[in-house]
Amino acid sequence: MIKTALSHPNKALVIYWGNENDTLRIPTRSSLSVTLQGINHPLDYIVSLRTVQSLERDKVIIDGIEDKGEIHSHFVQYLDAMRRYTGFKEKVEVATRKSFPVGSGLAGSAASASALAEAFAGLIGKTDDTRLKSIMARRGSGSASRSVYGGFVMWQKGNNDESSYSKQLFNENHWDLRNVIAMVSSNPKKIKSIEGMRLSKKTCPEQLYSDFVNAANPHIEQISTALLGSDIAKLGQLYEKENYLFRQICLKTIPTLDYWTKTTHHILYKVANLRNDGIPAYAGTDAGPNVHIFTLPKHVERVTRTIQEVQGVLETIHCRVGEGSHLIQEHLI
Ligand code: PMV
Repeated sequence: MIKTALSHPNKALVIYWGNENDTLRIPTRSSLSVTLQGINHPLDYIVSLRTVQSLERDKVIIDGIEDKGEIHSHFVQYLDAMRRYTGFKEKVEVATRKSFPVGSGLAGSAASASALAEAFAGLIGKTDDTRLKSIMARRGSGSASRSVYGGFVMWQKGNNDESSYSKQLFNENHWDLRNVIAMVSSNPKKIKSIEGMRLSKKTCPEQLYSDFVNAANPHIEQISTALLGSDIAKLGQLYEKENYLFRQICLKTIPTLDYWTKTTHHILYKVANLRNDGIPAYAGTDAGPNVHIFTLPKHVERVTRTIQEVQGVLETIHCRVGEGSHLIQEHLI
């Protein structure tokens, strides 16, 4: 049998940064995101999973080349977690293809782990079970639990494996919000998110970290209201507030996690200037130097032009609100 799934990354509006349980990825706070679909550049991650009777160990093929090293072990670990969880016993051949840089702060891990969970759910005939898919995706990468859904998605932290999963708040047709990503670097980050968040939880001043944790639920509530009313100013202010808090957490981590570059600072300055000119544009980052700017369709051109003028911007990726992970019929194997 063979199943192939396609999934997209997502950008957090309320950020996930830290686990209560690192193995199960039970987060310290709930989070909220928007699933992203590229318009001028696809942001697709495709995974095919094939069961082959004679296979004694999982086989992993990345962009046409078999991997027997670190990526292979990472995939096997994740597949084992899904097999344990569902009782599925067979070994599989995995083939993946992506259309964007993974490890660059574009949440590629969210797209890859959710695509794998979706394809796996296909193999066991459970694609309708979104809760199961979200739980399985979470085991691969926390933020992947949200990419199972399209639109605007909330990951409720829960307190155990069964209660920590995502739910869709509004689907991808609710509001035509746009995201312009200013790519500053496509290199993998020096400290991976999982390691960075572990350091933050361990070394940040306790009060700051608990303020960050406690701010999540009110922020989710306020952002949900802004989304309901398609209120870009309210959404944008809260998005930037969350990002500021996240930045403080990163800077107070030992060793300091400064994911930004000079270009990042420059873009943020330009976006603030756009607002002074009456353009509703709001900027934030992930655990990386790239900047995600939320705006409305009629302002995309102006925002893009302004950002492209900044020295150090490699490329801009224009996104709309994307759909969730789903099976497709074109197989990679
Ligand atoms: O899903 P992970 O384990 O790769 O963590 C990524 C977390 C951030 O992208 C930095 C924030 C978020 O909520 O997506």
